[in-house]
Amino acid sequence: MIPASFIQDLLSRVDIVDVVGRYVQLKKGGANYMGLCPFHNEKSPSFTVSPTKQFYHCFGCGAHGSAIGFLMEYSGLGYVEAIKDLAQNVGMVVPQQEDRLPPGKRAEVQAKSLALSEAMSRANVFYQQQLRGAQNAKTYLQGRGLTGEIALRFQLGYAPSGWDNLRAAFPDYEDAALVESGLVIERNEDGGPRKRYDRFRDRIMFPIRNTKGQVIAFGGRVLDGGEPKYLNSPETPLFQKGSELYGLFEARQAIREAGYVLVTEGYMDVVALAQLGFPQAVATLGTACTPVHVQKLLRQTDNLVFSFDGDAAGRRAARRALDACLPHAGDAKSMKFLFLPSEHDPDSYVREYGTEAFETQIRDAMPLSQFLLNEVSAEGEMHTAEGRARAQFHAKSLLQAMPASGLRLQIVRSLAQMTQTTPAEIEALFELSKPVTPRRAAPPPRSSRAAPADMEKKVIRLLLAQPALAAEMSAGAVDALAAVAPDGGAMLRQLLETIETMGTSPNFAALAEQLRASGPDFDGMIAELLGEAEYEPEVARLELRGAVRQCRMKLVKAEMDRLTASGSTTPEVLARLRELWNLHERLKQQAAADTASTGAA
Ligand code: UTP
Ligand code: MN
Repeated sequence: MIPASFIQDLLSRVDIVDVVGRYVQLKKGGANYMGLCPFHNEKSPSFTVSPTKQFYHCFGCGAHGSAIGFLMEYSGLGYVEAIKDLAQNVGMVVPQQEDRLPPGKRAEVQAKSLALSEAMSRANVFYQQQLRGAQNAKTYLQGRGLTGEIALRFQLGYAPSGWDNLRAAFPDYEDAALVESGLVIERNEDGGPRKRYDRFRDRIMFPIRNTKGQVIAFGGRVLDGGEPKYLNSPETPLFQKGSELYGLFEARQAIREAGYVLVTEGYMDVVALAQLGFPQAVATLGTACTPVHVQKLLRQTDNLVFSFDGDAAGRRAARRALDACLPHAGDAKSMKFLFLPSEHDPDSYVREYGTEAFETQIRDAMPLSQFLLNEVSAEGEMHTAEGRARAQFHAKSLLQAMPASGLRLQIVRSLAQMTQTTPAEIEALFELSKPVTPRRAAPPPRSSRAAPADMEKKVIRLLLAQPALAAEMSAGAVDALAAVAPDGGAMLRQLLETIETMGTSPNFAALAEQLRASGPDFDGMIAELLGEAEYEPEVARLELRGAVRQCRMKLVKAEMDRLTASGSTTPEVLARLRELWNLHERLKQQAAADTASTGAA
């Protein structure tokens, strides 16, 4: 058995959008990603992947599950294999266990990934050694203002010119791992003999390391004006461009110290900035910033600053970064966008204007909210109805991509002002059905509304959506719910026990995975939840409190009715009635207080 805690940890590190995206073409649609369902034949997409719930769901055929479930369904992997596959991609090692993978196969997979890893690290050592003896490369790096110390810190190397220098580094140049790792290219010329040669020749080598520090790829820069300027390793089982960031391993400590991460576009920016006093910089790898990148960065810090050139290409890249940020934007996070003068990247900017000027740029970077509003109103014409409607049109998908939060509410307010509408009108127009603040939450439940049969279900749904709330359920609350539940609260208790075994802050995907392992009881509710908007934690908390209170009220009332109907007027009965009445009043006051707090928010 793989421990539930490991699965939970794993599911909080992998991004299902990334996993599914490898097999299904996904397009952003609101807060979710949409695509053609791989599990049934369809012409229009009804397959959705939720980055916040980390779940996929097909409205057409009902297929649903976590990243683990997807891999199992899609590639026919076993449970353990799927977990291993995911774990390998995020650099986690599955704890020792007996698994269903045939021992031979398991050893094979492990050996292969080990071989790739070893090849990369061997090449890395070789390239570093070569740099020591390569005066041309050292001169180039010095010319770029880099010291030996910083070259060492980033393990910079040099791939000499010549076609097969790696022969000297490897005992067997014909080893399959060399081709699979992308270090060597094999060509089969017109049925002739296969020929191998080094991918990287006469280039400065930038090793790309994963968060454990293992080399998983290289970027290689020419020394002169040759093309391409940078050559990168191909994607391999070790390396996926869209989820790796150059320099993250080296920058981790500095990010913590600085309190933010600076995201640039270039290898050289990262290395030069570290040299110039900004060791908290990382870079995307010649690709647009992805939600996976953002998620990875948010594991290090809540404050992201993206830097872009001030030209059209920079704007486009910034827009992609904005899109990648939206699903992760929230009140406790800050995402800012820095636009440099068009002929500059961070490296050249600091060298020309100095560190203080750059620090000012970072401090004054544009907040996400402002960038979003600028983007949607870029076409101007706020003085015409058409122009204002167009701005709203552009804003719709962006706002829908954001989780409900105070920040989203603020943006809605500004947009309303800018387009001469009200926040409520925008919310209605954009179908921001999720409550933006507790104020717009569903009214607190009234005792006449929900039938008791639905009450347990409602609470279970709330807890599924926000498992952290389980910690706030007192034993008394559970008893009250159980007393009015048709099944005596068996499902509720099972759910609470499961959540309890999962430690602090279990996530939805991990919880769903765990419940699924114990039987199909919760399947229906989990599927239903997937089709719904997100619960704001505070709203869920109030709803949960409301539901518990409602059950208590019901029990109090029932007992009062029973005692009154008995006609007994013994002092004990009268005392109990008084007690019940007080309890009833207290519950009513609490309900009123909760309503007031939602109304005042
Ligand atoms: P830049 O051309 O802006 O490079 O490309 P740079 O990092 O500023 O490098 P220097 O200062 O000219 O040495 C930005 C990034 O785009 C990717 C690389 O990741 C590079 O760091 N890129 C660029 C490529 O992958 N291939 C290329 O040919 C060019
Ligand atoms: Mn540059």
